[in-house]
Amino acid sequence: MHNLDEMKAALERLAAGKGTEADQQAVQEALQIGHITLASGTRAVAVGGNVTDAVFISGDNNIVFNDEQAETIRRALVAYVAPGPGSAPPVPGLVIGRDEALGDLKERLGLSKDRAGAMQVLTTVRGWPGVGKTTIATALAHDEEIIKAFPDGVLWVSLGQKPNVLSEMATWGRALGTDDLLRAPTLKEATAQLTALLRKKRMLLLVDDVWETEHAATFQQVRGSECALLITTREAGIANALAPTPDAVYNLPVLTEKNALKLLAALAPSVVNQHPNECLELVRSLECLPLALQVAGHTLSVEAAMGWGVTELLKDLREGSKLLTEKAPADRIDLETGTTPTVAALLKKSTDRLEEQIRECFAYLGAFAPKPATFDLAAMKAVWQVEDARPIVRELTHRGLLEPVGGRFQMHALLVAHARALCTE
Ligand SMILES: Nc1ncnc2c1ncn2[C@@H]1O[C@H](COP(=O)(O)OP(=O)(O)OP(=O)(O)O)[C@@H](O)[C@H]1O
Ligand SMILES: [Mg+2]
Repeated sequence: MHNLDEMKAALERLAAGKGTEADQQAVQEALQIGHITLASGTRAVAVGGNVTDAVFISGDNNIVFNDEQAETIRRALVAYVAPGPGSAPPVPGLVIGRDEALGDLKERLGLSKDRAGAMQVLTTVRGWPGVGKTTIATALAHDEEIIKAFPDGVLWVSLGQKPNVLSEMATWGRALGTDDLLRAPTLKEATAQLTALLRKKRMLLLVDDVWETEHAATFQQVRGSECALLITTREAGIANALAPTPDAVYNLPVLTEKNALKLLAALAPSVVNQHPNECLELVRSLECLPLALQVAGHTLSVEAAMGWGVTELLKDLREGSKLLTEKAPADRIDLETGTTPTVAALLKKSTDRLEEQIRECFAYLGAFAPKPATFDLAAMKAVWQVEDARPIVRELTHRGLLEPVGGRFQMHALLVAHARALCTE
């Protein structure tokens, strides 16, 4: 944690265009754990109170930077989150409770001592929106053991919903030292060239945020025989389609309750100190989802720094719907637009893909959801008033919006809030 004066000095250097990499990193970390907010508008960046040693920047107090300076800071930070061609973004400053998942994934990627040679050449990681798939993939990319195990390095691509696969392949080409792929006339030609470049390489290929099986399949094709490939996606259907065997699919779980509370405590220490029971309730209501905890923790810390009570806010946040309109954490910044989406926008990425009728069914489920939200087939049949609920359940499960658990189906609390909001649209 950095103190106020150090952070202010780092920001001033960045604003003057004289920031060092250490400054960028310090500010980036503070941004990620929510101790700095970059807001837009006339009072773009301001330094406010000092919360238990943490730098706190937001709101209406002591303005230290004008818009232009704030923009310089913003650009410096964006440049920092967008590193060289084909390399992974930095690991967010605060990652809690992922040792076990990291260990599991490393083992799958062939790093286990007693299972030498039994490497899963392809692992797909799936999980709820905001559960931390991208985060764990960046942690793998920067992990010392991984770096040792793959001496030729790590290649990263984040595809998103509408990738330009050809240009992403050219980026990997550039990372491998050639611009030739930029001139490849077709995807087929680019695939052949990249395959040749990777043939003798021992690399880890990380393909993050896949929304169409075909997009990832291209990267699967170029994998050299000594490369491992890890793909992340929200959609179970995509994970299953790409995985050669069912056990090549890794379902990234939410945090344990203990770690979820630890995360909230790191983000809003004074609030967790003063309201331990309410915070535990909050963590439970948000079902330990990192995205929800990050946003809740940040909102609480902002409010507490104003010196205002948080009892009401704690209650509101438990409802989930309050979180939807909040901005996602700063590490979810859209590099193209330089803006951060709301939590609702992140969730809509999944539900916008549903056919209208299925989306309506999803929305109704939210309206009728018990707590915690699990349903059996009969209940869903009754809510939807259909003869056979299975095709709809299949589709929602396929899209990662329902999760089978012991004969029932679960919908995450944040998705329940999103479904309810869809009902009133
Ligand atoms: N273990 C963790 N500890 C603290 N914060 C975390 C952790 N995992 C994820 N986060 C934070 O939660 C947010 C969501 O994480 P991330 O973007 O990795 O999720 P995702 O599963 O990739 O989401 P999506 O489905 O939208 O791609 C990020 O702001 C990230 O920094
Ligand atoms: Mg992601």
